[in-house]
Amino acid sequence: MTNQIRLLAAALLSAAAALAGAAFHPGQLWPDNNGVHVNAHGGGLLYHEGVYYWFGESRDGRGTRGVSCYSSRDLYDWKDEGLALTMTADGPSSVISRGNAIERPKVIYNRKTRKFVMWFHTELRGRGYDAAQTTVAQSDKAAGPYAVVRSLRPDAGTWPLNMPAGQKEGPIPAGVLRQTSKEWLAAATDGGIVRRDFKGGQMARDMTLFVDDDGIAYHIHASEENATLHISQLSDDYLSFSGKWVRAFPGGHNEAPAVFHWKGKYYMITSGCTGWTPNAARSGVADAMLGEWHALRNPVRGSKEQTENTFESQSTYILSVQGKPGAFIFMADRWRPQNHADGRYVWLPIQWEGDKPIVQWMDEWSLKFFD
Ligand code: GAL
Repeated sequence: MTNQIRLLAAALLSAAAALAGAAFHPGQLWPDNNGVHVNAHGGGLLYHEGVYYWFGESRDGRGTRGVSCYSSRDLYDWKDEGLALTMTADGPSSVISRGNAIERPKVIYNRKTRKFVMWFHTELRGRGYDAAQTTVAQSDKAAGPYAVVRSLRPDAGTWPLNMPAGQKEGPIPAGVLRQTSKEWLAAATDGGIVRRDFKGGQMARDMTLFVDDDGIAYHIHASEENATLHISQLSDDYLSFSGKWVRAFPGGHNEAPAVFHWKGKYYMITSGCTGWTPNAARSGVADAMLGEWHALRNPVRGSKEQTENTFESQSTYILSVQGKPGAFIFMADRWRPQNHADGRYVWLPIQWEGDKPIVQWMDEWSLKFFD
C-alpha cells in the first residue's frame, strides 16, 4: 500500500468507527477526546449556540479539584475544555479552597446580562455537611474561567410562599436534628427548621438549576436537614435569590433533584438520602415551579434490583435535547466513592406511561430513539 492509500484507509476506518460509536453506553467508561474517562460527576448540561457543555465535579484522590467542562456538538463525543472553575490552594478564607467540597455544579446562561452563571453546593473543610451553602460564580465564556460572586444560604429573612401563616411562629428545634428521627420529621412537618434558619438563610445541599421558557431561573435544593426540597426563584441576573420560594414534599427526604418541563407540566426526579449508595428514585409533578408539587411513583421500570437502586445510580440532571421537542435524557451518577474519578454515567431516555415520565435500562442507545 502506498502511504496515501494507507492514510485513506485509516481515515475511512476511523469514520466508520465514529459512526458505529455514535451511541450511549450507560455505565461504561466514557473516553473524552484524549482517551481519558470523563471526570464530570454530579453534573449538568448547558446548550449554547450549537454546542453542549457538560459541567461536573472534577474529582481526584483528594476530593474535588474544581468544576470540569467538556464540549460536544452531538452529545456522544466530548472534548475536554479543562477546569471552568479551579479550586485554589489558599487558606480556608476562600470558599473554593481545596479541602472544601463543591458538589453538583450547574451552569445557565443569562440572556439579559449575556453572562454564564454557575451555582454549586459548597461545604467547608472540617465541618462535614453542616455549612450547607450554595456558591454562585460568573463568566463571559461558557467554558470559563468562572469567578466566584458570593456564597450563601438561600432566602434569609423571607418565608416560603406556601407556608401557612400559623407556622411562622412556633417552637425552634435546638441544634441539628438526626435525619429520619421523630423530632426531625415533626420539625419538617410543622416548619420548625424553616423557622430555625429564617435569619441566617435556609440550608442548601444537593441542588440543580432550571430555567423556564420565560427566562426565570430556579435554584432547587435539599434543605431542612435534607427533609424538604426548596425551590427558590433567582434574581433577574441569576446572581442572587428573589425572595420568592416554596417548600416541596415536606419531610419527603429527597435529594439529587433534576427537573424538566413538558406540555405545560414541570416534572422532577429525585433520590432518597443514602449518601453514595444508590436507592430508589422518586418523581413528582407540578403545574408551575412555584406551584403545588404532587408526588408520583418511582419512575424506574425494570427488575426489582433496578427499581430499588435506579440502575445503581443517582439522578443529577435531565437534558432537553436541542431540536427534538419532547426528547429528554435522564442523567445519573454511578458513584465510585473508593475512586471517584472512575464514577460512571448513566444516561437514559425519558419515556412515558400516559402522562408520567419513566426510565428503562438500555445497554446501548442513540438519539435515533427519539425519532
Ligand atoms: C449524596 C449526595 C452527593 C454527595 C454524597 C455525600 O447523597 O447526593 O451529592 O453529597 O451524598 O455522601
